[in-house]
Amino acid sequence: MPLVTTKEMFKLAYEGNFAIGAFNVNNMEIVQGIIAAAKEENAPVILQASAGARKYANSIYLKKLVEAAIEESELPIALHLDHGDSFEVCKQCIDDGFSSVMIDGSHLPFEENIALVKKVVDYAHERGVVVEAELGQLAGVEDDVNVSAEDATYTDPTQAVEFVERTGVDSLAIAIGTSHGAYKFKGEAKLDFERLDKITKLLPNFPLVLHGASSVPQEYVEMCNEFGGNIPGAKGVPEEMLREAAKYGVCKINVDTDLRLAMTSAIRKVLAEKPAEFDPRKYLGPGREAIKKIVQHKIKDVFGASGAASKLK
Ligand code: G3H
Ligand code: 13P
Ligand code: ZN
Repeated sequence: MPLVTTKEMFKLAYEGNFAIGAFNVNNMEIVQGIIAAAKEENAPVILQASAGARKYANSIYLKKLVEAAIEESELPIALHLDHGDSFEVCKQCIDDGFSSVMIDGSHLPFEENIALVKKVVDYAHERGVVVEAELGQLAGVEDDVNVSAEDATYTDPTQAVEFVERTGVDSLAIAIGTSHGAYKFKGEAKLDFERLDKITKLLPNFPLVLHGASSVPQEYVEMCNEFGGNIPGAKGVPEEMLREAAKYGVCKINVDTDLRLAMTSAIRKVLAEKPAEFDPRKYLGPGREAIKKIVQHKIKDVFGASGAASKLK
């Protein structure tokens, strides 16, 4: 099976009220952990690479790792550029064979965001690649850009309709209270479901995307802190809220922080408990296993995507 776009995945997810997991990849162990989970769940997945990931691993290595994942698993897998910040970066990824790109013009004024997205859409669609854009702005850190909670702006539902119509974009990331990173809520976790409901009703059958959707499981936070870490007060989006979001138009849920937490806590544990160990496989292996465990839990118990791969083959 070749690399696929997200079109069919989203259609299936929309109709079935579930969501496709989009997991950030940076190295081999992360790719393998995600794929091992997706294989056991027989679920389609989106593997996504940020600018930071492309810089760290080199795009070609990531592409080849994803090719290996497809060959080995025979699952429907999309390779997606996460938070592309310019037409040139999107073009590069499209030319390199990515099946989906995100052009993130969310920090730009409305008209400039539209113009940039339209340019990417025109280039991508001619080449069979799908495009995700973002309207509204999430708080948190992404690729060295830190957006404070005060500067975050929720997506305006009527603007979203105009944006989708004028750009021809395939999916839209919306801001309803999630944020990037491990510190999402100071007090109680809260998402604006009323706004999500409005956007879903105004854009029927149109796939929405939830960024900053890690749940920051406390077992991993505690494990990190127990074995020498220092991440007090880390807090994420409760799983039941993600399950709820998938009943609306949300078809793609982005997760990076939880993978980092799972992998790092597992590695910390090995290094703390076995100080004489210096074979990287002895800690990267458990790190990979931790990724598999958390991804499998998400696919099966939170996103509800188990078994969906059969319907796409
Ligand atoms: O949205 C941001 C993702 O978590 C990617 O993070 O830019 O550090 O790779 P990164
Ligand atoms: P988290 O930081 O919540 O994992 O969000 C990841 C993300 O949105 C990647 O684009
Ligand atoms: Zn994001």
